[in-house]
This record gives sequence, structure tokens and C-alpha cells, in this order.
Amino acid sequence: MTIVKTVKNTVFYFVKIFRDIPLTTVSLSQRAIQIKESQIREASRYCEKFGAINLAQGLPDFPAPEALKEAARAAIAADLNQYADSWGWEKLRVAIAEKMLRDNQITVDPETEITVCCGATEGLNVALMTLINQGDRVLIFEPFYENYIPNLATVGGIPEIITLTPPQWEITQEMIEPAFKKGIKAVIINSPANPTGKVWTRTELELIAKLCLQYDVYAITDEIYEYIIYEQEHISLMSIEGMRDRTILVNGFSKTFCITGWRLGYTIASPELSAAIRRIHDFITISAPAPLQYAALTAMQFGREYFTNMALDYKRKRDMLYPALLEMGFSPVLPQGAYYIWTDSSAIAQDADMAAFRLAKEALVAVVPGTCFSHPDRAKVNGLRFCFAKKDSTIELAVKNLRNLKL
Ligand SMILES: Cc1ncc(COP(=O)(O)O)c(C=O)c1O
Repeated sequence: MTIVKTVKNTVFYFVKIFRDIPLTTVSLSQRAIQIKESQIREASRYCEKFGAINLAQGLPDFPAPEALKEAARAAIAADLNQYADSWGWEKLRVAIAEKMLRDNQITVDPETEITVCCGATEGLNVALMTLINQGDRVLIFEPFYENYIPNLATVGGIPEIITLTPPQWEITQEMIEPAFKKGIKAVIINSPANPTGKVWTRTELELIAKLCLQYDVYAITDEIYEYIIYEQEHISLMSIEGMRDRTILVNGFSKTFCITGWRLGYTIASPELSAAIRRIHDFITISAPAPLQYAALTAMQFGREYFTNMALDYKRKRDMLYPALLEMGFSPVLPQGAYYIWTDSSAIAQDADMAAFRLAKEALVAVVPGTCFSHPDRAKVNGLRFCFAKKDSTIELAVKNLRNLKL
């Protein structure tokens, strides 16, 4: 009995010691050290701490379409619960090919060019793993979606950053050609963009295409907000002459169908690129969730009015928040797409982190500091991102709280 007790105490002792060892003694990879925790999660933590309204994280607080939830329940009940075809369920790939022709004017072979994966997030990672070697440079435009830096760190890619200026965020040949000349393997184009709401124009995409051809550069496009678009039209870089076989297009179901938790996305690329994408995807996740792929087919069959109404709904929400921010003394930029408003934050604090903290604490509204969308080693950006993918009542309450803040 005493032996058993001694062994038990010794085990507890060692478990306690190992639990208390500081993390710094663990031999982490350079990659793991380079990847910092998402500041968006941190903003959500403030949100909980102060009981603030969450305009930080890019997800809706309203329900997903009933027809989709029903289709998912039915697929699970029908026991479609095992691994799916690694490339994606065939009928879903066919539906994606039909959508690509109808909405993007791109003819795609569902058999060889589409890979369904676990969200655009997996699509972007797999696209980078397909193209990028250790030390390859990849051009990104700042402010950029925060994942791009950690995604590049995972493959050893080096970000080549060009900073865009509000309110137009436009590019010119003068600004971007030096990066191509210096030698980049790929460029990431996010349109409509998070966090700026920039929608890339045909002229800008033609310039990117011209330089990609001239300097033998690939493009990865992140088109996750394709249907959340206001005054401008969405154009896929892949549809521009010369770009069909040097682009990996990444898209997904999260934002369009209000199902960010389903983790469904896809890549579109030439058969050669797709063959590599599929091999990598297979060993990373095997397949996207099978029953949800069946349910996603229902989403692909929604009529035109679903997309029109969704864009109009988001436009209405944008137009509730934007004038209120203007009136309060911020300098917001009217987004042309996606569901975020970017604004300068110097009116309320010396830097973005302090501004976000102040809004969460004093106005009870959590937003994301602009530092999150720039390289950690670069000068701090004094901007904030407000997400308006929220119920009208949430936006109304947030505006009321913001108005009470003494600037
Ligand atoms: C620009 C951008 N790309 C990709 C994603 C992630 O998409 P998914 O949910 O399909 O992984 C997000 C999510 O916020 C995003 O803002």
C-alpha cells in the first residue's frame, strides 16, 4: 500500500514539475517561434473581459440559411459521414465549375482543376506549399489579411511588402515593378480585400498580369469575399489574358453562405498545379468534411437573388456604421467590398493597440488594431478595423456606445 502511495506521489511530483517548466526550455522550430498568436483572438479576449460588443472577429452573429442547416442535418442522418473523395465530392466540383463559368467567365475542368479543401485557409496554405521554396519572395499588399505572414512562415517564404495608401489603395507600375524586378516567385491578390475593402480594378489586374508574364511570376488569388461587393464588379485575375495557368485561385463557402465554421473552400488551378495541390491536400487533411460538402451543393443551387440580397444587406449595414464613424471624428474609408471598415485611429490614441484597447474599455466596442494587418517588424500603423457582419441591432448598439465616447 505504501509503495503504491509513494509511486503515486512521485508521478504527481514529476507531472507538476513538467507542467511548470517554462516554455522557453522547449526546443521549438524557427517556424513555431516566428508564428505569433492572432491579435484578432486577443481582441476577442478584451471583448469578453470588458463585456464589449464584438466588431472584431470577421464572422456574422446572425444565423446561416435554414436550407443549408437542413441539408447538413439530412446528410449526417443519411450516414454520409466517412471520408469524402480527397479532391472533393464530384457533384460539388461540377457545381463549382458551373459557377466559375457563369460568374467568373473561366472554363474549368472539374475532373482535373478543382480541389475542395478545409476552408480558403487550407487552400492558401496548400497553394503556398505548391509554389514556394525556402527563401522565395512573395509579394503582398499592406494592410493585408493577417494570415499571410504566418502562412508564408510555414513554407519559409519571405514577404515582400508594398504599402498601399487610403482612401484609394491604388497601385501604379512605378510602385510595384521594383518588387518584380528584385525577384519574386508569386504575388497574393486579395480582392475584395480584408481589411481595406479594396476591390481591384481591371486596370490594376491587367498591370499585375503584365508584370507576372514579363517576370515569370505566379499569382495566388484570395477571392473569399467575391459576392460581398458594393459599387464595383469583382474580377478574377485568372480571367485576365495570360493568367489562366499561372494563377491558383482560392475561394470558399464561409463568407458567402454564413458558414465560417463548416471549413469548406476550394482551389482552382491548371491540371499540373492541381495535381500537386491534390497530393499535398491529401496528406494534410485527406478531405473536407463529407456531410457538409453534400450540404454545400444546396448552397450552390441558390438563385441569383440570394447573392443580390446578401450584398444589399451588407451594404445597408456598411451604410449604418460608416456615417456614424465619420460623424464621430474618425476618417473611415468607404469599403467597396468585404464586410470591414478601415479607419485611421489617431483621433483617439497614439497607436492602434491603445486605440483598440480604449474602444473596448471605454466604449465597450471591440475592434481589431491595424497592427494586425502589417508586418510585426514594421512601423506601427495607426488604424482600426471594424467588422459589420452583425445584426442591425448589434451595429445600432455599437454606434450608440461609440457616440458616448469622449474623443
Ligand atoms: C481574406 C481572407 N481570406 C481567407 C479567410 C479564411 O477563409 P476560410 O474561412 O474559408 O478559411 C478569411 C477569413 O476571415 C479572410 O478574411
